[in-house]
Amino acid sequence: MQFFAPTRVYLEKDCVANHKNELLSYGSRAFIITGKHSSKANGSLDDVLSILDEASVPYLIYNDIEENPSVETVTKAAGIGKDFQADFVIGIGGGSPLDAAKAIALLMANPQEDAGCLYESKELTALPVVAIPTTCGTGSEVTPNAVLTRHAFKTKKSISHNIYPKLALVDGKYLSSASSNLIIHTAVDALAHCVESRLHTKANVYNHMFSEYGLSLWGKLVPVLEQISAGPDAVPSSLSEKDRTPADLLSDADRETFMLASTVAGMAIAQTSTSLPHAISYEITYNQGVPHGMACGIFLAAYMDEYARNNAEDVNRVLSLLGFPSTDDLGAFLRKILGTVTITEAECDLYADKVMANTSKLSTYPFAIDRDGIVRIIRRSLTITA
Ligand SMILES: [Fe+2]
Repeated sequence: MQFFAPTRVYLEKDCVANHKNELLSYGSRAFIITGKHSSKANGSLDDVLSILDEASVPYLIYNDIEENPSVETVTKAAGIGKDFQADFVIGIGGGSPLDAAKAIALLMANPQEDAGCLYESKELTALPVVAIPTTCGTGSEVTPNAVLTRHAFKTKKSISHNIYPKLALVDGKYLSSASSNLIIHTAVDALAHCVESRLHTKANVYNHMFSEYGLSLWGKLVPVLEQISAGPDAVPSSLSEKDRTPADLLSDADRETFMLASTVAGMAIAQTSTSLPHAISYEITYNQGVPHGMACGIFLAAYMDEYARNNAEDVNRVLSLLGFPSTDDLGAFLRKILGTVTITEAECDLYADKVMANTSKLSTYPFAIDRDGIVRIIRRSLTITA
């Protein structure tokens, strides 16, 4: 058994300001990696900039990170960061900017390498990364993983290097401007991380502490997710409908619990990696454009059914921590809050072939599984047309 969790994590209100000296200790020229809009809208970018301005630390903002960032994007950004001579990287946002920040920090620290090094097993180190999540699912702030889109292979895959952020600053207030769908999809990603880590080849008593605690936290959030998925009319509010955003349905305590569940789930997969639902999800995200959390969550119930053919006890443990009596109930709940996905027979065949070729992901499943097993998971999770 082993356990390794080198990221210093603070989860509290105003934690960026509270821990500014620690943030500033990681370098003297900052390269900020974020998406186009959300970090401006939720205040996280301003919080970071005010600290850098106050300390007269030069910085450059790269805000052109797309959802499911590509190898090409991180290569371009790394070139800009190198020209700026930044010596540390601050990732702000959801999984896309945070994963991109890690890959960019690796490329910037190794100017002799090209993008090919991202998927080679070489001993390379990255510039220090500070991660500030503004969604509640990725867990990237505490994991060593960076999943990038590989257009050359028409899929997504984690790079071959482990890059743990040095510092994670987690504040529930950054969820206050998030849409219902963003919260639902990212929270379901965190659920997938807990389930896949608990039902994993590398699962052991150390990481059970994280996956099981994450599952019990997630169980408490089920009624909250039910409310926000039903829309603003579902709960009383003193605001008029026009003035309400989905986030008004969440209390500060809810937001902090969503963030806590996300970081705990990240700590779980940091020890194990993810498993088959993530492997299949990459196909429907790349080809159907299904958001990451939804793409993972849609396969969870069928994955658990498949797993239960070999070990029903562990699946029942997951269900009891979540508070669902059966995988059918869990699957129905997830379909209710996520919706459904439709693919063709040909796509089903293609995705099953691609998952079967992903031997590293297949090895995360503790039992033998053949192509029929993968097809069973896909068929039971998606609507298939001719
Ligand atoms: Fe994920």
